[in-house]
Amino acid sequence: MKVVRTIAEMRAIRAGLAAPVGFVPTMGALHEGHLSLVRLAARECGAVVVSIFVNPTQFNDKVDFARYPRTLESDVAMLKGSGCTVVFAPEAGEIYAVGASTSIDVGAVAQPLEGAMRPGHFAGVALVVTKLLNIVQPARAYFGQKDAQQVVVIRRLACDLDMPVEIVAAPTVREADGLAMSSRNALLTPQDRAAAPVVARALNAAHEAFGQGERDATRLRARMTAVLAGEPRAQSEYVSVADPDTLAELERVGSAGALVSLAARFGTIRLIDNILLTAA
Ligand code: PAJ
Repeated sequence: MKVVRTIAEMRAIRAGLAAPVGFVPTMGALHEGHLSLVRLAARECGAVVVSIFVNPTQFNDKVDFARYPRTLESDVAMLKGSGCTVVFAPEAGEIYAVGASTSIDVGAVAQPLEGAMRPGHFAGVALVVTKLLNIVQPARAYFGQKDAQQVVVIRRLACDLDMPVEIVAAPTVREADGLAMSSRNALLTPQDRAAAPVVARALNAAHEAFGQGERDATRLRARMTAVLAGEPRAQSEYVSVADPDTLAELERVGSAGALVSLAARFGTIRLIDNILLTAA
């Protein structure tokens, strides 16, 4: 496994990689969720590039960017033995040159949910992912279903801009108590960490109700809100039952199923999670 820090080095090493090249973009502070993407890519590809870059343009909150965990040394250690071939860990100045001014607006799918709560977030994600795909030029790029809207946005971007890459979505990896793994979990206080599984419980309540035949989206949202309200440490930001492709809020869950998602704050830390409801 090689670690490279510049675009020039990445391009030089790319030329000798075995096809098909798989790519897993990350912001580091790696956990089992990230590693599951790397292992999946390694099973399906001749070589795997993992990028580690805390992308400033996707943080709408300066404090969130400043305190985002940066653990390059232990990240590199974790990637050894995971099937990663090359780690691309550029400095911010390497990716964003002075004078750069291009922006990318993916449109409607970037507007609701996370897009509404974090203005500019998906423009930053779309820009950095486009740049990284242009640098690494993978045949396949791997993203976690944990960030469901990000997957929808990246699929739209790759399709609209005719990018020669297959976007692969992989299942959410969870802790034993149901909490979706996230680099932000490490920032929770012990009390908030103990309370955080309420997020998964709320989603499961919607899943259970759906399993029992509930198709009314308002009632599914109310189920989740009620579960979250039972945990005083959790402050709900949104609960959503949306079309899995357009992300428009639903009145009823039909044959296309639904993306059920929520965001909640525990103190100053914001957690998101989701599940897909698929009609039987
Ligand atoms: P980051 O939050 O580091 O996540 C990197 C990838 O790991 C994303 O595709 C994310 O969905 C996936 N992931 C995170 N937690 C996961 C879990 N518990 N189970 C499965 N996959 C999980 O997402 C980003 O970085 C950035 O927006 C990025 C795409 C790198 C652009 O900067």
